[in-house]
Amino acid sequence: MPWPFSKKSQTDPPEGSSTPEHSTVDYSSTAASSLYERIHETRSAPLDVPYLLPKDSDEINRLDFQHHLLRAMFKGNTTVALTHPISSILDVGCGTGIWGSEMAQDFPEAQIVGIDLQEVQRSDKPENYMFVQCNLLEGIPFPNNYFDFVHMRFLINAVPKTMWPTVIQTLFQVTRPGGTIELIEAGGDPYRPGGWACARMYEAVMQVAASRGIDPREMYNLGNHCKQAGFTQIQTRKIEAPIGRWSGRAGTMLATDMTEGMKSFKEPIQKIVGYTAWQFDDLADQVVREWEEYHSSYIAVIYTAQKPLTDTYR
Ligand SMILES: C[S@@+](CC[C@H](N)C(=O)[O-])C[C@H]1O[C@@H](n2cnc3c(N)ncnc32)[C@H](O)[C@@H]1O
Repeated sequence: MPWPFSKKSQTDPPEGSSTPEHSTVDYSSTAASSLYERIHETRSAPLDVPYLLPKDSDEINRLDFQHHLLRAMFKGNTTVALTHPISSILDVGCGTGIWGSEMAQDFPEAQIVGIDLQEVQRSDKPENYMFVQCNLLEGIPFPNNYFDFVHMRFLINAVPKTMWPTVIQTLFQVTRPGGTIELIEAGGDPYRPGGWACARMYEAVMQVAASRGIDPREMYNLGNHCKQAGFTQIQTRKIEAPIGRWSGRAGTMLATDMTEGMKSFKEPIQKIVGYTAWQFDDLADQVVREWEEYHSSYIAVIYTAQKPLTDTYR
C-alpha cells in the first residue's frame, strides 16, 4: 500500500481525511484562555497547544525509559491480541517514536505511522516507520478507514475535556472497519494509598491541568466516548501498579519514572499554583517518602475496542 502522502505535511490533508469539521479550535472560549502563556520558563515545551509537559532531552529520556518499563509490565507492546491481518498501524502522540519503531520490527509487512507535534530523531527508525507532524486537536491527516490498529498512550494531559468526544471520533474515522484501538491513560487519580503530600501534589497537577481546560479524570470516561463514536466490544482494564522500592524492581523503576514525571510539572506548578521551587522540591521528596510509607500504587486505565464491520456509521 503506498503512503497516502509524502512526509511531514499537515497543511494539505488528502481527500476524505478525518480532519473534524471544527478544525480550528477556539481555545479562548474554554478554561484554557491563558493558553499562549508559557507554563514552562526554562524547559522546552510546545506553546500553541494545551499540552502540559515539556519536550526536552530529560522528558525524551523519561519517555523511552517508561516505554521499556511498560513493555516489561505488559509483556509486549500491546495488551490486545492482534488476530486480524495488520497492514497499517497508527501511534497517536508517538513521543520519541520508540513504540512505533518496535512495532515496525514486529510487523515488518505493515506500515507504521507515528503522529505528534514534534519529531524526535532516532537512529534506529525502521524503513516501514514514518513520522507525520500533526496536531491531533485539528484532526488526523489520513483517509477514513485507513488503519488496522490505532494506539494512543498517555495523551490525557494533551486533550481538553471538551475535546475528547471529537478526538475519539477522529480515531474512529481513521480506524478500518474490523480494526482495533487501544488507549492507555493514567494520571486521573492520586497515588493510592497515600498521605497529605500525594494528595497535595495531585491537587496541584489538577489545578495546572484545569488552567488549560484539561481534566485527567476524564480517563475514566474514554469508554463512553468510544461507545458514542461507534466502537464496539469495548473492554476496560484498571491497573494498579505498585510504586516504590518497597515493591521490588518494577516498583523502583516506576518510582524513577514518576519522580522524573513530577519534575515536568515543577515550573507549571510554580507558575499556576504559586509554589516556590523549594516548596515544590520539598513536596516532591515527601511524595516519594509516602510511596514507601503507604505502599502506594499508580493507577492506569486501558481500553481496547473494535470498529464494527458495517458501513453505517454515524
Ligand atoms: C506523555 S507523551 C506520551 C508519548 C508516547 N505516547 C509514549 O507513550 O511514550 C505525550 C505526547 O503527546 C504529544 N502531544 C501533545 N499534544 C499533542 C497534540 N495536540 N497533537 C499531537 N501530539 C500531541 C506530545 O508531544 C508527546 O510526545
